[in-house]
Amino acid sequence: MQIGVPAETLADEKRVATVPDVVEKIIKLGFRVAIESGAGDAAHFSDDAYRAAGAEVLPDAATLWARSDIVLKVRPPSSEEVALMPEGRTLIGFIWPAQNPALMEQLAAKKATVLAIDCLPRTLSRAQKMDALTSTAGVSGYRAVIEAANAFGRFFNGQITAAGKVPPAKVFIAGAGVAGLAAIGTAANLGAIVRANDTRAEVADQVKSLGGEFVKVDYEEEGSGGGGYAKVMSEGFQAAQRQMYAEQARDADIIITTALIPGKPAPKLITAEMVQSMKPGSVIVDMAGEQGGNCELTVPGEAVVRHGVTIIGYTDLASRLARQSSTLYATNLLRLLEELCKAKDGVALVNMEDDAIRGLTVIKEGEVTWPAPPLKAAPKPAPKAAAAPVAEKKSAHGPGAPMSGKALTIVFAVLAVLFWAIGAYAPAAFLGHFTVFVLACFIGYMVVWNVTPALHTPLMSVTNAISSIIAIGALIQIAPPGAGTDGRPDTLILWLAFAALVLTGVNMFGGFAVTRRMLAMFRK
Ligand code: NAI
Repeated sequence: MQIGVPAETLADEKRVATVPDVVEKIIKLGFRVAIESGAGDAAHFSDDAYRAAGAEVLPDAATLWARSDIVLKVRPPSSEEVALMPEGRTLIGFIWPAQNPALMEQLAAKKATVLAIDCLPRTLSRAQKMDALTSTAGVSGYRAVIEAANAFGRFFNGQITAAGKVPPAKVFIAGAGVAGLAAIGTAANLGAIVRANDTRAEVADQVKSLGGEFVKVDYEEEGSGGGGYAKVMSEGFQAAQRQMYAEQARDADIIITTALIPGKPAPKLITAEMVQSMKPGSVIVDMAGEQGGNCELTVPGEAVVRHGVTIIGYTDLASRLARQSSTLYATNLLRLLEELCKAKDGVALVNMEDDAIRGLTVIKEGEVTWPAPPLKAAPKPAPKAAAAPVAEKKSAHGPGAPMSGKALTIVFAVLAVLFWAIGAYAPAAFLGHFTVFVLACFIGYMVVWNVTPALHTPLMSVTNAISSIIAIGALIQIAPPGAGTDGRPDTLILWLAFAALVLTGVNMFGGFAVTRRMLAMFRK
């Protein structure tokens, strides 16, 4: 089959749906690849680079659409582009079927098969490699911080210079989804003090792990609407949230808003009064511009100054890093093509039995199949009470079955005889060491077996550190007890003991340090 990649027609869209490195891999799947001349120019991929990768470069969009069995695109096609599409072809790209009913009708009339990458079921872990929404949002979150830094008149990190002390910038991030988390990581890496809030309490740990501080709304309500998305919050919560956001707005230098509830207009989180209360020169980047904006004063697609605050409402943040986002998007589409063409014979099969492909397919051969039915829930684990007898029954015959009373008596009897024999015949010096050895085994067993498996690694490092008890032996060699001036050990033993002491010191202090760091990972 022939795959075609046209140039994006939307004004200022710089991305392209595939890149030369990925073209080579698509060809390995058995497809032929054609690209419209100049399609990659804005993302800095030349026609020659595509040719070198094995693609055919076609002079115009009309030829490309006419000859392609499958068209890869970034933005939803315009009606002029759909008009160029012969009947019965396949289109893959962002479609947003809920927002574009007219486009869906046009494509259905063309008896097309349409795979909307924005409809991928994101909760399927198998689908993550195809998740273009996530890769796009990650790039956009990064770019939002860069745009903010560009408009902000100060450093992000605090500095003490001969010319004076500069405090670090304070960045507040509203919404800690994919874009929000990318923004938190980027701003923290630039040295800013980062605070973030989200209605889903489960993201608090992720915010912390990226170097941010999670700011809670003083109101008990869980904001998770399932599938990693938020729900609309109660009036009471919203009032408490507004109060907290008002405080943050007064304190922050930069606010980046990414709050989104799928299928709903963006929640209005930053009011005009909050903007007014911000320090002059502050910056707001409102990523939700396309959904109406999280800030009341946002102008989608533009950067405006209101009450001395720059409010950036760009809706093309990913396109502003065209080379990076095109490469990630092209890889997402390659993974999708691999799923469609498992036989690597250059034929794409849309398998509606596959949950991920079913979710993506919004039109199949002219029939609208959107929205996809909800994913089948994973089977619930059996209740513990019911599971217990089964486990017991299984273990009674299995290899790890506990010993019966009779077998246990025999084992103890044999051990008792063995100990008696050792006690009766072994030399006295051996007996002392042997007793210590048996007690050590017993204590070791009791200690290790009562520690949860997650803590076994820190336990190993701490026991490693404790094994440095060897230091006592080395000290005894350096200065034997009761040794006077004439009872000094010879020089070789002295040096060996000294080396043992140094090495064991490294082992001991290193072991404790590693244990401390490991245990810190378990502390909340
Ligand atoms: P996401 O769904 O992963 O994250 C949205 C987050 O907002 C979720 O964690 C959700 O819990 C949180 N949220 C919802 N309501 C909230 C509220 N009232 N208060 C606090 N948090 C709330 O979405 P993703 O992918 O991170 O995208 C974020 C936004 O950025 C979307 O609006 C998306 O359309 C936009 N976007 C904009 C781009 C641009 O160029 N401007 C490019 C890519 C994404």
